[in-house]
Amino acid sequence: MARRAFITGITGQDGSYLAEFLLGKGYEVHGLIRRASTFNTSRINHLYVDPHDEAAQLFLHYGDLGDGARLVSLLGELRPDEVYNLAAQSHVRVSFDEPEHTGDVTGVGSMRMLEAVRMSGIHTRFYQASSSEMFGASPPPQNEQTSFWPRSPYGAAKVYSYWVTRNYREAYGMFAVNGILFNHESPRRGETFVTRKITRAVSAIKAGVQDHVYLGNLDSVRDWGYAAEYVEGMWRMLQADEPDDYVLATGGSFTVRDFLTAAFAHAGLDWEKHVRFDERYLRPAEVDALVGDASKARERLGWVPTVDTAELARIMVDADIEALACAGRPWIDTVRLESWGTK
Ligand code: NAP
Ligand code: GDD
Repeated sequence: MARRAFITGITGQDGSYLAEFLLGKGYEVHGLIRRASTFNTSRINHLYVDPHDEAAQLFLHYGDLGDGARLVSLLGELRPDEVYNLAAQSHVRVSFDEPEHTGDVTGVGSMRMLEAVRMSGIHTRFYQASSSEMFGASPPPQNEQTSFWPRSPYGAAKVYSYWVTRNYREAYGMFAVNGILFNHESPRRGETFVTRKITRAVSAIKAGVQDHVYLGNLDSVRDWGYAAEYVEGMWRMLQADEPDDYVLATGGSFTVRDFLTAAFAHAGLDWEKHVRFDERYLRPAEVDALVGDASKARERLGWVPTVDTAELARIMVDADIEALACAGRPWIDTVRLESWGTK
């Protein structure tokens, strides 16, 4: 019998890589998707096999982290061996505009998932997508012992999720773990996170269809890794003998300015000629520096990332240049439309 995994957030960046990874390991994968008026499965369409086909191993189910009853009935019906809770309102700047919604989905939503596991009476291993954003203003390097000091409604919601996950482990003996992941990116990264915003702009500027891009704070420091490598770390956490919490990070330290330099230089461009400042991309409170110490994951899980931030910038620029060349006009339109109110 194939092992069965259930992924919330399967349509997101990490969910898509995790689904790919688990299918490659022979899992039957079930994912939660939100009903939308348009298709929202672009990141996993390449994995599609007609569910009527006996070879199908990937199945999608409508649901929402706001709907606890649905989560209970789904988990009771599917009885997965492993649950990965990746769904969230995951944008830090947007969480200042939508703090209540972010608290509900990114915070209470995790508790709804844990309750759904408990109430459906299944024995499953549970992964919670915790975040380096929880460390906030605590100085780097940050590891599993570092105090939390969240600086946004998103960070505060993730701290709640972290503690409720630990509480279910301690109170009910559940195999529930927190993966405290530092920033990880890829060609599938959401278009309004800073790395992807930059690499998309590079490709459009290189093609001569855009001249400049507006950004906020260029001084913040991040430890940017490659998402495809991080999902293996999630899986490894659920294969351990005992449930525990782990940081995943590269240990590298780059400013947004450094990322700009690497991305524009890879396309033969000078970023200083193409970047303009817009204060609406600033945050009411900033997280100045996140640099992770992942030695626990390396020693106990054997997890070692290989792609550093400079290589990641090159991978993302190359992918966006190719995407523009393949899609042409529709792709260019999405670059322009991005500034409609997104942050
Ligand atoms: P992402 O690309 O923004 O994906 C978020 C996923 O959550 C999407 O599938 C989204 O569905 C889904 N979702 C949002 N609200 C939902 C709701 N109410 N009910 C059900 N599903 C909902 O995020 P990501 O980068 O893959 O990150 C995955 C997780 O790791 C998130 O929890 C994030 O906060 C956390 N994390 C990410 C990083 C990072 O650097 N990427 C670092 C640390 C932690 P739609 O596609 O329909 O919008
Ligand atoms: N998004 C964005 N847009 N960020 C900008 C911009 C801009 O135009 N200009 C500068 N920045 C700066 C932000 O102020 C921040 O300091 C840094 O770039 C990174 O911003 P994001 O890419 O939005 O990521 P984040 O670090 O806030 O959050 C991401 O990483 C967290 C883990 O540390 C998200 O993926 C979170 O979901 C994740 O938990």
